[in-house]
Amino acid sequence: MAAPSLPCLLLLSFLLASPHLSAASRGSFLKLPLLHRPSPAPQLLRRGRSSGSPVTSGAPFGVGQYFVALHLGTPPQRLLLVADTGSDLVWARCSACRGAGCSRRAPGSAFLARRSSSFRPHHCYSASCRLVPRPSSPPRCNRTRLHSACRYEYTYSDGSLSSGFFSRETVTLNTTSAKTKAAAVRLKGLAFGCGFQVSGPSVTGSSFSGAQGVMGLGRGPISLVSQLGRRFGSSKFSYCLMDYALSPPPTSYLIIGDGPGEENATTSSSLAFTPLLANPLSPTFYYVGIKSVSVEDERLPIDPSVWSLDDLGNGGTILDSGTTLTFLADPGYRPILAAMRRRVGLPAAEGAPPGFDLCVNVTGAGRPRMPRLSFEMEGGAVFAPPARNYFIDVADGVSCLAVRPVGTAEGAGFSVIGNVMQQGFLWEFDGDRSRLGFSRRGCAAS
Ligand SMILES: *[C@@H]1O[C@H](CO)[C@@H](O)[C@H](O)[C@H]1NC(C)=O
Ligand SMILES: *[C@@H]1O[C@H](CO)[C@@H](O)[C@H](O)[C@H]1NC(C)=O
Ligand SMILES: *[C@@H]1O[C@H](CO)[C@@H](O)[C@H](O)[C@H]1NC(C)=O
Ligand SMILES: *[C@@H]1O[C@H](CO)[C@@H](O)[C@H](O)[C@H]1NC(C)=O
Repeated sequence: MAAPSLPCLLLLSFLLASPHLSAASRGSFLKLPLLHRPSPAPQLLRRGRSSGSPVTSGAPFGVGQYFVALHLGTPPQRLLLVADTGSDLVWARCSACRGAGCSRRAPGSAFLARRSSSFRPHHCYSASCRLVPRPSSPPRCNRTRLHSACRYEYTYSDGSLSSGFFSRETVTLNTTSAKTKAAAVRLKGLAFGCGFQVSGPSVTGSSFSGAQGVMGLGRGPISLVSQLGRRFGSSKFSYCLMDYALSPPPTSYLIIGDGPGEENATTSSSLAFTPLLANPLSPTFYYVGIKSVSVEDERLPIDPSVWSLDDLGNGGTILDSGTTLTFLADPGYRPILAAMRRRVGLPAAEGAPPGFDLCVNVTGAGRPRMPRLSFEMEGGAVFAPPARNYFIDVADGVSCLAVRPVGTAEGAGFSVIGNVMQQGFLWEFDGDRSRLGFSRRGCAAS
């Protein structure tokens, strides 16, 4: 991980609320609708070390990303961002255009920095500028120029990148609280990347499904949750990724702050918890511990070290909303695949798409019962997803195991629990208490 980790205190100074808004504080939270769109590529939208795994997109089969709208600037401009727990930076595609040409641009196709009176790039010598990775060239600060904006270059694991000016901007948000009605608040000084150069399959063209950027929800200090969490008195956030195969698709929400759960003991008590583990080498990621994996009631003989971080910070298992399919370390994946093959009890499908190791013919099987998969987490909680979270329909009558191997038989590579596997559960990330809560029953309540 190249993302520098500096004290979060630096960010406190960014987030000075307008004086007349000081009423919204502890007890209020943000509730942002999550929109889903199928996308043809960006299933590996995560920051950091390349996993070297073959990339299999779930998008042709109707799986994809979740998006959140963010209103940035003065007056506010609406931007659609990919919600990503696997990265930290909040960035939007920026346009420097001014004058008549701007009006021809489709509204919302990019953030028009010149149309905002509150846009301010960070200075390249500022402490804030050290929070973002610098571009390899040109040098971040040109000493011959008095005013030099903070340049950043943020790369994702597939080599996709966003590069531009690390800036400050005012964000407009609807807050909710138990006592007051929803209220629009304007927060000054949200640190975000104004991306002038954006490239790579995960963040461009049709594969980005019309999004204008990424909302980094990672654990590092520049993520949206780290920045806003301080404003709302808690670095907690939660989301529920509704099953988008349902019609009409139900609304999912991203909740930042304590949320309604705190006031509702029913919801809170139904959460099972597992510790969030820290990796100093990858401060962005939400690591969890897997103790064992079972298929049906057979606990598979997998060495637990396959799932865990080693002393050098390699390996481990993360939860990532920006990755669609689930990627498991090869030595753990093989026994799971073998057990699924043994127990699925359905004929193999002919002409299955490449990239899937197990595809079965479900024609005439009615509603086939797929083998149950469950993960025993650190702390004893059991994550037992429904079969549709790991078997996806890729064609008429063809269902494939939506889990892919990563790394080699010798190890290397870390495991990623992607967004399809997370569907239908409420996930609560609590950075302060270093724990992750999840519940099969929490979704309806939000
Ligand atoms: C610094 O800025 C000056 C003036 O804009 C330019 O001529 C020079 O090439 C720049 N230096 C570097 C190293 O980019
Ligand atoms: C706030 O909520 C209203 C009503 O739901 C909506 O029209 C508006 O776009 C929202 N504003 C922001 C900044 O989310
Ligand atoms: C599935 O099985 C049916 C008959 O049971 C067969 O007609 C069909 O071609 C098979 N489809 C695939 C993709 O294997
Ligand atoms: C808590 O959530 C449950 C389940 O959604 C709901 O039935 C109940 O009314 C809620 N209680 C309060 C106090 O909001």
